[in-house]
Amino acid sequence: MNYYLKKILAYAIPYKRYAILNIICNIFYALFSTLSMIALIPMVNVLFDDTKKIFIKPTWNGIIHSKDYFVKLFNYTITQKQINEGPESTLFFIVSIIIVLFLLKNFFGYLSLFYITFLRNGVLKDVRNKMYSKILDLPISFYSEKRKGDTISRITTDVAIVQNSFLSVLELIVREPLTIIFAITVMLFLSVKLTIFVFLFIPISGFIISFLGKNLKKKSHKVQGEVGIFLSLLEETLGGLKVIKGFNAEASFNNKFQESTSRYFNFSNSLLNRQNLASPVSEFLGILTIAGVLLYGGNLVFIQKTLDGGSFIGFMLLAYQILTPAKAISKASYSVKLGNAAAERVLEIIETESSIADNIDAKLKTQFNNEISINNISFKYEDHYVLKDFSIKVPKGKTVALVGQSGSGKSTIANLVTRFYDVNKGSITIDGENIKDLTKHSLRSLMGLVTQDSILFNETIKNNILIGKEDATDEEVIEALKIANAWEFVKELPNGMNTNIGDSGNKLSGGQKQRLSIARAVLKNPPIMVLDEATSALDTESERLVQIALENMMKNRTSIVIAHRLSTIQNADEIIVMQKGEIAEQGKHDELIAKDGIYKKLVDMQSFE
Ligand SMILES: Nc1ncnc2c1ncn2[C@@H]1O[C@H](COP(=O)(O)OP(=O)(O)O)[C@@H](O)[C@H]1O
Ligand SMILES: [Mg+2]
Repeated sequence: MNYYLKKILAYAIPYKRYAILNIICNIFYALFSTLSMIALIPMVNVLFDDTKKIFIKPTWNGIIHSKDYFVKLFNYTITQKQINEGPESTLFFIVSIIIVLFLLKNFFGYLSLFYITFLRNGVLKDVRNKMYSKILDLPISFYSEKRKGDTISRITTDVAIVQNSFLSVLELIVREPLTIIFAITVMLFLSVKLTIFVFLFIPISGFIISFLGKNLKKKSHKVQGEVGIFLSLLEETLGGLKVIKGFNAEASFNNKFQESTSRYFNFSNSLLNRQNLASPVSEFLGILTIAGVLLYGGNLVFIQKTLDGGSFIGFMLLAYQILTPAKAISKASYSVKLGNAAAERVLEIIETESSIADNIDAKLKTQFNNEISINNISFKYEDHYVLKDFSIKVPKGKTVALVGQSGSGKSTIANLVTRFYDVNKGSITIDGENIKDLTKHSLRSLMGLVTQDSILFNETIKNNILIGKEDATDEEVIEALKIANAWEFVKELPNGMNTNIGDSGNKLSGGQKQRLSIARAVLKNPPIMVLDEATSALDTESERLVQIALENMMKNRTSIVIAHRLSTIQNADEIIVMQKGEIAEQGKHDELIAKDGIYKKLVDMQSFE
């Protein structure tokens, strides 16, 4: 079986009871659908008064003669009716049977779809959930290579395509083959010769149809890739509207988008038109078969007289009935090919191994006792090293500050200590234990993180803060807001801390956002704080206030503080001056000023501001 289909079908296992119910209903569907066709035979015979009259009730002679028995029994009943009640009433009787059979056929048809719906949507739900967990699990580095929009298109449109193509095949997988088998069985009963004739056409049609289905996967890949591209563009546009408008770049973005949708237009035309071929081609091939049957069957009826008119019409109807499932199957085979491309894109995410996964024997670490030690690490994001043979120690209870030009590797240190990335050489240890040997969850429980760009969610202030500690009380939240000097502005808002702050907190000023992300870390109350330019967006007045708050917060804590404003780190126990990923100077504020080196120069430059 198809590789990707098999993998996706594994997600159907929890829903197998629906599959079983579906199969049962489909058996009845196929049965009644064949019977309803056969029931037309006596109707034709009655209409043309062609029923073989049977006046003696037939006797049961065992299973081998069952066909004879039932045909005779039916004809006997009809004959009796015709004699006793006349042809009109007999016709009414047969028509009633036909109506009941069609009713049952459609009832079971609906019921089978009813059950498979739960399976289809269940698989859809589970695949999406699995993808989302994976998206949360994958390391930050995964996304610097992938566009966000591409990931979004995979979890939305690709999953939907998988559902529409692969899983719609599930509707047919039992029903159509069964319908074909039942129909063929009856056809064999009616006329072996004609059936063999029909069979000659099937392999020829199959070959033509599969030939047309070539390249469908490649085409579909292109289409889906393009969806990813324009969703990425859309995502960036929404995020960067201010810049686009401010720089009058609407036209160029518009062009980029239209180029992408034009490519989509072309790829998708070529794909859909190929796909559109499936149905008409298979119907035409089917009608060729029927035409052959008509000519050959007509010969059997009129010239050889080995077939009665009713059976011939019944046979034709059955042969036509095969046509619909055959058409459905060939369409499904195209669907599977389309689904393949989408499934590949979905599975690519699900099956990506996280490069920063926990070791099987990763340890829990609940306490921080001694020191954080960064030992001779080197690190590169891409080809060139941004940190070279870098070592520092941060003893418990001390504050170490990192300063230096932008691009010197300060944030990278924060990324490595929190294990968003793994070092290439050297090691980072906490109390002597390599952070690679700890679970990421317990490592990050020890740390509070305030990032350079305040990351807030479209939620209330309270819910944004609660990420630090989910079960905190309102009082604790207010306390944290007070420490971060944010309560002052929060309490003035119309809904206080229940005010929604908009997309990425855009209803707030930069300084307000930064104070909220500090409050979030305060509420978490971890032993180690990692502050990456936490005060860069504050004005001097609030900076002074937050500075006091941070100092209070850092008092009994171990902190790595990355500072843009040097005034904020004068009291640090140790200041590391970084230059191009290496340590240029290190010491206390006074020592470094006395040294009259790079640090002194940086301080002097900032005094002018
Ligand atoms: N995700 C990334 N992918 C590739 N290079 C990066 C990435 N992030 C940062 N860099 C590079 O690493 C270097 C150090 O960056 P960073 O640690 O952010 O500096 P800063 O000291 O300003 O915080 C820079 O040269 C930057 O271009
Ligand atoms: Mg930085």
